[in-house]
Amino acid sequence: MSVDSATLDLTETSITEAVQNTFAGTRDDRARELFVNLVRHLHDFIREVGLTGDEWFTAVDFLERVGHASGPTRQEFVLLSDILGASVLVDLIDHPHGRTAATESTLLGPFFVEGRPSVPNGTDISGGVPGTPLFFGGAVVDEAGAPVPGVRVDTWHSDGEGRYDVQQAERLHDRLAMRALLTTDEHGRFRYRSIAPQYYPVPTDGPCGEILRAADRSPMRPEHIHFRFHADGFDPLITMLFRAGDPYIDNDAVFGVRHSLITEFVTHDAGSTAPDGTVMNVPFQTVDRTFVLTAAR
Ligand code: BEZ
Ligand code: FE
Repeated sequence: MSVDSATLDLTETSITEAVQNTFAGTRDDRARELFVNLVRHLHDFIREVGLTGDEWFTAVDFLERVGHASGPTRQEFVLLSDILGASVLVDLIDHPHGRTAATESTLLGPFFVEGRPSVPNGTDISGGVPGTPLFFGGAVVDEAGAPVPGVRVDTWHSDGEGRYDVQQAERLHDRLAMRALLTTDEHGRFRYRSIAPQYYPVPTDGPCGEILRAADRSPMRPEHIHFRFHADGFDPLITMLFRAGDPYIDNDAVFGVRHSLITEFVTHDAGSTAPDGTVMNVPFQTVDRTFVLTAAR
């Protein structure tokens, strides 16, 4: 009796082609390419390091725990991708930098959440969280320098102790704070008041923390503010501004800092006038920045 031998008596080497062949019928060309190459690299990796059964089960258990740690306000899989440099690598391939005047992009991170409030320009978005007042003024232009009105601008950042709202849900009674969705005005400008953020460790109380500790890696991210821009006729832009002079600027746990995104966060003495005309009785910071969007191809 003849037996189809495609998956019989496979060896350490022949198994790779046998598995790849099972994807031959994948209708989507790109999906087929991804599966076939994933199998090649996965099998090569296993052969190259001589992976043991214990190690494989440890890895599978790890991924299972990453899944369990993930939820609407905690994205442990995103964090895993971030600490392995995969998020930034994908972004670098997807958004080649340096060829245009467009503002450089960087990773999204795990703290973007839907459901943030949409607010008018000038709003205090701190949500009542105490801290050093910060006034942000932004301009959005196209690559020719023309202002772009009507851009939807998401912004989110930590408090002065490096914690996001979703990391202190109990204290904030599940209120979102230090995040908002704004829209650029007819001059392509947006502005808001909030509080100064701070450098912070990426969450280390989940499975990803085990990797950082095992490798004796710093979990720190330099101080930054996140932005996401959406406008009709333009490519979406996800980016961050990093504070010039931050002690962790050249040792970001998730590899996201780019020179062009380092920005002065200017400190002003008490008694100075804020950009909104308020005479401030405490020291405060201002940040001004122009963002350049690329026209959709
Ligand atoms: C963030 O900037 O919010 C972030 C990015 C990657 C990992 C953890 C946090
Ligand atoms: Fe962040």
